[in-house]
Amino acid sequence: MSDLHPTPALARAAAPAPPAASANVLEARHVNFFYGANQVLFDISLEIRHGEIFALIGPSGCGKSTFLRTLNRMNDTIPEARFEGSVLLDGEDIYAPGADVISLRRRVGMIFQRSNPFPFSVRDNVAFGLRVNGLARGHGEREAVIERSLRAAGLWDEVRDRLDAPALSLSGGQQQRLCIARALAIEPEILLMDEPASALDPIATGRIEELALELKQRYTIVIVTHNLQQAARISDRTAFFLSGRLIEVGRTQQLFTTPARKETEDYITGRFG
Ligand SMILES: Nc1ncnc2c1ncn2[C@@H]1O[C@H](COP(=O)(O)OP(=O)(O)O)[C@@H](O)[C@H]1O
Ligand SMILES: [Mg+2]
Repeated sequence: MSDLHPTPALARAAAPAPPAASANVLEARHVNFFYGANQVLFDISLEIRHGEIFALIGPSGCGKSTFLRTLNRMNDTIPEARFEGSVLLDGEDIYAPGADVISLRRRVGMIFQRSNPFPFSVRDNVAFGLRVNGLARGHGEREAVIERSLRAAGLWDEVRDRLDAPALSLSGGQQQRLCIARALAIEPEILLMDEPASALDPIATGRIEELALELKQRYTIVIVTHNLQQAARISDRTAFFLSGRLIEVGRTQQLFTTPARKETEDYITGRFG
């Protein structure tokens, strides 16, 4: 039956049209953020587009991590913290009253600076989110998701024979890819990465960068980095933050070669930060 075995051309024709390359998935509008009386983000508005790698750069303390965390409401639990503005995910405000935060965190996964595997086996780390989200549907399916996630994170070949080994016995770079596999297992649409390679050696860092470029085929990625070469190597667009303000945002290549603002130029040429 031709409809069971469509030719690639037919399969493409039958598939729903992909979102236009310029479609926004996340849009921050007039975001202000306060820790107690201390305002650390000032009127940030920017868009993150479907299927791009979007880099956030700027000196330490400029608000990169805080801004990243506003994109999936990871700041919600910080006492005394206050958010103002809105963040639209596919046009819907994630801060609207009644917004479903559990489903938001499923759709917008997070990878932290320090890999944080749980103190159990490699397999159970990847399975964790499936269980928490009620997605584990029988042993066979669970094992398939574990393998698929580890493959997507570029870790399968290194751990296929050690799935029952403690996650903490893996190298630092492997642990970070395990955390990526754990995030991928619940099939997010967007991955937020906060300096995912900053604790890793250059080889492990290279693996994470290659991985980000592969994952971009299927996911939208927002990555915080203080490594300018890294931002230049992997991102499509870059935003430069300074003291809680968005100074400039644009195509990465353009921002690094012909920045529009003096502050950006000073930063990328190493004059401060
Ligand atoms: N949990 C917190 N409580 C109070 N202040 C914080 C907290 N997290 C960050 N800050 C402050 O907010 C500002 C921005 O921090 P952060 O977003 O971590 O910047 P970056 O990631 O660019 O280094 C800094 O002044 C920092 O000290
Ligand atoms: Mg940070």
